[in-house]
Amino acid sequence: MNASKPKKCYIETYGCQMNVADSEVVTSILNEEGYELTQDMTKADLILVNTCSIRENAEQRVWGRLDVFRQIKEKNPHTKVGVIGCMAERLREKVVEREKSVDLVLGPDTYRSLPELLEEVDSGHKGINTLLSKEETYGDIVPVRTHKNNLSAFISIMRGCNNMCAYCIVPFVRGRERSRDPETIESEVRHLSQKGYKEITLIGQNVDSYNRKKGGKTLRFADLLEQVAGIDHEMRIRFATSHPKDLSDDVLKTMADHPNICRHIHLPVQSGSTRILKAMNRGYTREWYLNRIDAIRHHLPEAEITTDIMTGFCSETEEDHKQTLSLIEYARYDFAYMFKYSERPGTKAARKMNDDVDEQTKKQRLNEIIKLQNQIGAANKKNSIGKTFTVLVEGTSKKSNNDYFGRNSQNQVVVFPKNRVKPGEYVNVKIENSTSATLLGKVIED
Ligand code: 5AD
Ligand code: SF4
Repeated sequence: MNASKPKKCYIETYGCQMNVADSEVVTSILNEEGYELTQDMTKADLILVNTCSIRENAEQRVWGRLDVFRQIKEKNPHTKVGVIGCMAERLREKVVEREKSVDLVLGPDTYRSLPELLEEVDSGHKGINTLLSKEETYGDIVPVRTHKNNLSAFISIMRGCNNMCAYCIVPFVRGRERSRDPETIESEVRHLSQKGYKEITLIGQNVDSYNRKKGGKTLRFADLLEQVAGIDHEMRIRFATSHPKDLSDDVLKTMADHPNICRHIHLPVQSGSTRILKAMNRGYTREWYLNRIDAIRHHLPEAEITTDIMTGFCSETEEDHKQTLSLIEYARYDFAYMFKYSERPGTKAARKMNDDVDEQTKKQRLNEIIKLQNQIGAANKKNSIGKTFTVLVEGTSKKSNNDYFGRNSQNQVVVFPKNRVKPGEYVNVKIENSTSATLLGKVIED
């Protein structure tokens, strides 16, 4: 540890949960270098932006932020500015050329080299490293938790992706899939449990393909879940993201056996048309996906399912679109992230397919999908009226000082009038009303 006065670091994070977890690893590495986090970028010695490349607009936003950081650097020339994460990986040359104020560029597998690269910058050079690794999982680094509630934490269990969906930039910016040592995962869960954390989310691009040898045996995701769930029965276990082609009955059975594994599965479908799924190289058909929905309903009747849907992929017809709409009706998702397809350079779709659905049609289809999903989400919430859920209290509701909010096992937000309970405690709440995204209820005193 550097003994001199702490330097200040400001980190902005975009993109997925994985990026949130990575920023916590970066914070831990920087702590060792004598940096403390600050929320005030104008006072920072180091400004980092952890970036996302998934859609074009994710990158546009970061270019906008770099304008702001340049202005800060003009006032405080000693401030170092770094671009890290997926966009750094994809656009290293462009970032360095276009943004003279950027001192550091680090891809997702190079965070351990941050101390050396900071020294490079001190000696008047740019600090750049975008090598991808086959092994890096940061398994031995204890992340500095930044979630404000001190109750929930992400634990990264694997990195990278081997699936090569035709539209997706992830394999190019995050490299090959690798699973983290289960010992380090379990010790992190124990550590968090001792610190009073109540909820962990195991994260990875495709958690169902977790695969690691332990004591001569191969540990699959269902085995890891089983071990993690047994550590602290008061601790909720969540996970994301599942891939429909790999979500096994074993995982569903393990969930059913452990009440502390939350009744929520995020299962990105992308499209309801087998023809489009094939073009996307998703590795499953519409029928296979519907079978996974049925399996979830069978093993976990009280579970909620959420999804990602992408509209307007290359060659998508009105008929394909109708199939997506009918799949949404069948699956009855509680919530969905819904996107228009956006071509990503270097992917199979960009190289070999035609982005031939015009913008107007993409917009129109997206609007239809959003409208239907919103209706279903709201109807789903209404169905919960009269039911009682165990809720982990997270804090004061954003809308009213008199109310708390928390989540049920299904990952739905529940709002209820404050009473004696405190954040971090579990309470039973009877649902009396709902909005399109929230359940409203009252605590049941026991
Ligand atoms: N265009 C639009 N959406 C995309 N996603 C991934 N790649 C693209 C793309 N090129 C969406 C998918 C994925 C989610 C994280 O982002 O729905 O599940
Ligand atoms: Fe964005 Fe994908 Fe990178 Fe996450 S892994 S930050 S979603 S590009």
